[in-house]
Amino acid sequence: MEKKKINIGLIGGGFMGRTHSNGYNRVPNFFPDLAFTPVLKAVCFRNETKLKAFAAQWGYESTETDWRKLIERDDIDAVDICTPNDTHAEIAIAAAKAGKMILCEKPLARDLAESKQMVDAIAAAGVKNTVWYNYRRIPAVTLAKNIVASGKLGKIYHYRANFLQDWTINENLPQGGEGLWRMDAAVAGSGVVGDLLSHCIDTAIWLNGGIQEVSAMTETFVKQRMHQLTGKVEDVHIDDACSFFCRFNNGSLGLFESTRYARGHKALYTFEINGANASIRWDLHDLNRLEYFDNGDESNLKGWRSIHVTDGDQPYMGNWWVPGLGIGYEHSFVHQAADFFKSLETGEDCAPTFKDAFETQKVCEAVLDSAATRSWKSC
Ligand SMILES: NC(=O)c1ccc[n+]([C@@H]2O[C@H](COP(=O)([O-])OP(=O)(O)OC[C@H]3O[C@@H](n4cnc5c(N)ncnc54)[C@H](O)[C@@H]3O)[C@@H](O)[C@H]2O)c1
Repeated sequence: MEKKKINIGLIGGGFMGRTHSNGYNRVPNFFPDLAFTPVLKAVCFRNETKLKAFAAQWGYESTETDWRKLIERDDIDAVDICTPNDTHAEIAIAAAKAGKMILCEKPLARDLAESKQMVDAIAAAGVKNTVWYNYRRIPAVTLAKNIVASGKLGKIYHYRANFLQDWTINENLPQGGEGLWRMDAAVAGSGVVGDLLSHCIDTAIWLNGGIQEVSAMTETFVKQRMHQLTGKVEDVHIDDACSFFCRFNNGSLGLFESTRYARGHKALYTFEINGANASIRWDLHDLNRLEYFDNGDESNLKGWRSIHVTDGDQPYMGNWWVPGLGIGYEHSFVHQAADFFKSLETGEDCAPTFKDAFETQKVCEAVLDSAATRSWKSC
C-alpha cells in the first residue's frame, strides 16, 4: 500500500529536536502498518553550521534559519515546535493561521494567557495538534492508565508524584542564553513548575482526573546569578523548588514535589496511586516496570508485584522486540509520533491536545499563584 506522506518541519535542534527526529525515523520501521509516514522535509534553527550538520545527521532534506520561512512553505504539512518556551505561542499561532498541523513541546507556553491564545488559534484554524507530554507513552505508564480505567484500584484516595533533579545546586551556574534558558523566567515562564511538575500534572490528570484546588510553596534558593547574555549578575525569578498539595475532582488527595536541588537525583520522576482495592507505583529510573499491589490476592501471597512491562500484549510492546527485552526513554517519542500518524487515519484527537495541555497549564498557574499569595487556589 502506498503510504501518505506527511512533510515535517522541525523547529529547534537541541535535546527535543533530537528525540523527535529519532522518533520520526523509527516510526516506519516499528509501526509499519500506519497509513501515514513522516518525511523529514526541513529543520530550522539559527546556527547555520550546526544546522547543516543536524540536517545531515538526522536526514532532513532542507534547512531554514527563520521559522517564519519554514511555516510559509507549501511543502510543509506539520510544524514540530522544539524551541524554548517563550517561542511556543508565536510559532504555534502562526502555524495554525497557515493551516499546518502542530506538534508542540511542553509546557504549552510560559503562562495561561499565552496558552489561551494558542488554544483559540488552534480552534479557529481547526488544525490537528498534540503536545509532547511523552511520559504517557512509556508502556508501563500506559498500562497504569489501563489498570486505573479498568476500576481495579477501586476508590482512589491518594496520588503522589515527584520529579527530582540536582543540576542547579552550583551557585556559580549562570542563568539565561543557550543551554541555560530554563534558568531565565523571561524565557521559561517558570522554573520546576512549568518544566517538571507540568509532566507530573499531565500524567496525574490523565490517570486520576481533574484537579480542583491547590496549596503550594516555592523557593528560589540562589537569588542572583550571572546572566549569560548580559554578563551582569541579575535576580533569579524562577522557582528552584516547589511542593504542593491538591484535591482532585474525585475526592482524592494529591502531593507533588519537584526540585533541582535534590543532590543525587538527575531525573527521578515517580508516581504512586493508592486505591481502596489496589495501588500502583512507577519510577522513571526503572521505566519498564510497574509495581502493583492487589488487596484481593490470596493472603499468604499478598505483596507488591513488579510487572516487567515487555510482553507483546502490553501497551506498544508488540511493536518492539521479544518478551523480556526492555525499551527506553526515547521510545516514548516514537510512540507519540506513531499515535499522531494513527490519529490522522482515525480522525481522533492525539491526546494530549492543546486543550488538554491548557488544563495542565491552569494547574501550573494556580500552583504559582498559590505560592505567591500563600493561599489555596482553585484551578
Ligand atoms: N517532553 C519532554 O520531556 C521535554 C524534555 C526537554 C525539553 N522539553 C521542552 O522542549 C522545548 C525545547 O527544550 P530543549 O531541551 O530541546 O532545549 P534546547 O536548548 O536543547 O534546544 C532548543 C533549540 O531551539 C533553538 N532555538 C531557540 N530559539 C529559536 C528560534 N527563535 N528559532 C529557531 N530555533 C530556535 C536552539 O537553537 C536549539 O536548537 C522546551 O519547551 C522544553 O520545555 C520537553
